[in-house]
Amino acid sequence: MIIFKKRIDISNYIVNYKKTSGKIGFIPTMGALHKGHISLIEASKKTDTLTICSIFVNPTQFNNTADFEKYPVTIEKDIDMLEKAGCNVLFLPSVEEIYPADSSTTLPYELGFIETVLDGKYRPGHFQGVCNVVQRLLDIVQPNTIYLGQKDYQQCMVIKKLTELIQSPTQIIVCPTLRESDGLAMSSRNMRLTSVERIKAIRISEVLLFIKQEIKPGNLQDLKQRCINYLTNEGYNVDYVEIADATNLILLQNWDGKTKLVALVAAFLNEVRLIDNRIVNED
Ligand code: PAJ
Repeated sequence: MIIFKKRIDISNYIVNYKKTSGKIGFIPTMGALHKGHISLIEASKKTDTLTICSIFVNPTQFNNTADFEKYPVTIEKDIDMLEKAGCNVLFLPSVEEIYPADSSTTLPYELGFIETVLDGKYRPGHFQGVCNVVQRLLDIVQPNTIYLGQKDYQQCMVIKKLTELIQSPTQIIVCPTLRESDGLAMSSRNMRLTSVERIKAIRISEVLLFIKQEIKPGNLQDLKQRCINYLTNEGYNVDYVEIADATNLILLQNWDGKTKLVALVAAFLNEVRLIDNRIVNED
């Protein structure tokens, strides 16, 4: 695996690679890699001729300084995992490489409704920061395909919107959420959980399964409230438990029995914010 730290070096490499008929697959990450990230590398390896991963803990998407400062960094282990997965190129830039002092900005992105709900509401500025870094990374890497995880359902929709806004030719592939054997969605933030919190963390995926089992056409308020109460009693500080139209994330109070639904949860266990989601009316 070739490791590039400088934007100019990876750009030169890509310009040359683009002269071949190869296909570039790109997996942007913030490191502290786990099998969920590696599943995206594997998806790219199946179809692309060049798989590029980036590791960059993006300061502009953290609306909470402590969360940024405590974001886990495990770079040696990450490199080892990427090598074993057959990743071809790792881009490992510094903040100055991504945000040079003289760079122009296209902020704010007109993300519309998608930025007003769920994490858009609870993490102000977060998705602007995600778009800011993803646009910069797409400009540098110019991939044919970008691979994203369903774990960050709303982020996938935001990045789709971004590619429309900037008229990027990059295709988006959303890959399924990888889970631990007890159902907990894999996440870099899981490393920050104490052993007691780790046991409690499975409650989030339990709540999503509960919604999947209990969902019925009609009013959804009671079901959502039962989930919020359950998590609160378990010691969580709940941002939201919501059920939304899976195609556009419009939050639903009532279900017509037909619309494809996604249930989404965001809740804090002490300092660690966990998010997860599940399509609830599909096998
Ligand atoms: P990060 O949280 O490192 O995630 C990188 C990619 O891995 C995202 O597309 C995310 O959805 C995916 N991913 C995370 N956990 C997963 C799991 N359990 N199963 C499958 N895929 C999973 O998301 C970000 O970084 C950043 O916001 C980024 C897009 C890199 C911009 O900074």
